[in-house]
Amino acid sequence: MQLAGILEPLEVKGLEFKNRIVMPPMYTGLATSEGAVTEELLEHYVQRSRALGLIIIEHSFVVREGRLGQRQLGCDNDSSITGLERLSSSIHASGVPVVLQINHAGRSADPNITGSQPVGPSPNGTVRELKVDEIKKIVRRFAEGAERAMRAGFDGAEIHGAHGFLLNQFLSPLTNHRTDQYGGSLENRIRFPLEVVEEVRAKVGGRLLLYRLGSDDLDPQGIHIKQSQKFAVKLEEAGIDIIDVSGGLCGSRPPELQDVQGYFVPQAQKIKEVVEVPVIGVGGIEDPEYADELILEGKVDLVAVGRSLFKDSEWAKKAIQKLRGR
Ligand SMILES: Cc1cc2nc3c(=O)[nH]c(=O)nc-3n(C[C@H](O)[C@H](O)[C@H](O)COP(=O)(O)O)c2cc1C
Repeated sequence: MQLAGILEPLEVKGLEFKNRIVMPPMYTGLATSEGAVTEELLEHYVQRSRALGLIIIEHSFVVREGRLGQRQLGCDNDSSITGLERLSSSIHASGVPVVLQINHAGRSADPNITGSQPVGPSPNGTVRELKVDEIKKIVRRFAEGAERAMRAGFDGAEIHGAHGFLLNQFLSPLTNHRTDQYGGSLENRIRFPLEVVEEVRAKVGGRLLLYRLGSDDLDPQGIHIKQSQKFAVKLEEAGIDIIDVSGGLCGSRPPELQDVQGYFVPQAQKIKEVVEVPVIGVGGIEDPEYADELILEGKVDLVAVGRSLFKDSEWAKKAIQKLRGR
């Protein structure tokens, strides 16, 4: 069977991606201090959108207490919808599907911005442990954030479960020391993320639902790929359409992996072994030929190119020209 390269389209849930190049979510700091879309933010995405298969818009906070950046995008209230609608329609004008990443930073939230004490699965320094009723409330906030994105015309949502933010803090034994139904076994530690998936799925309906999976903490005591594979199977069962594989508590750009192109691709490959849904691979990808090989060799289904697109808004266009010219 002829395997597809990055120039080949991919259809997911009736939505066509014209190629396999994905812009992963990347915080720009271009929203207003209230979290609304600005002209600069709009321009940033429109410039980069044209040649892509899919755009995932940067992490937007679902509730004020889960905020991280001073000018982080938000979807925590209905006044965000008008700006988000302009963002989705501007990207759609280029014929590219767009999803919004939704997030709660948990214990990484910045109290100087939120004005409240950070919360997490377990107490730690200034971090307060979430009570069960608060967990349920946050599940609803994620669902409401996703619903706003749908009302704003997005093609779907991506739940941020990586890089040491709240859902990832529940997954990892390094940060989750609870003894109730949300801590202890893997089954318990994935309960909160799966509850979020279930409620968000209900709001997203037939549109796309992605999960950014913190697949590896790069710590012997932390999350490693065997556990992530089990979680990925559960995510698929819960109705996730695409698994976007990245790092866990080690973050998205661990210094020890920085000199390798495709540094989280091995983890994505392992996830791909256990699920049927498409998998996104990421990590320091710069060369179009390398990205193309990842698809041709069947290692991943989609390739996310972050900083290369940040640096050069024409990266995808040039990559396509180069590959077509071979
Ligand atoms: C400036 C910047 C902001 C980022 N913001 C986010 C974010 O909002 N959500 C997220 O899941 N990852 C975020 N990331 C991680 C990227 O999505 C990506 O996984 C990482 O940069 C590795 O890919 P790359 O080497 O192609 O850049 C960010 C990365 C950078 C450089």
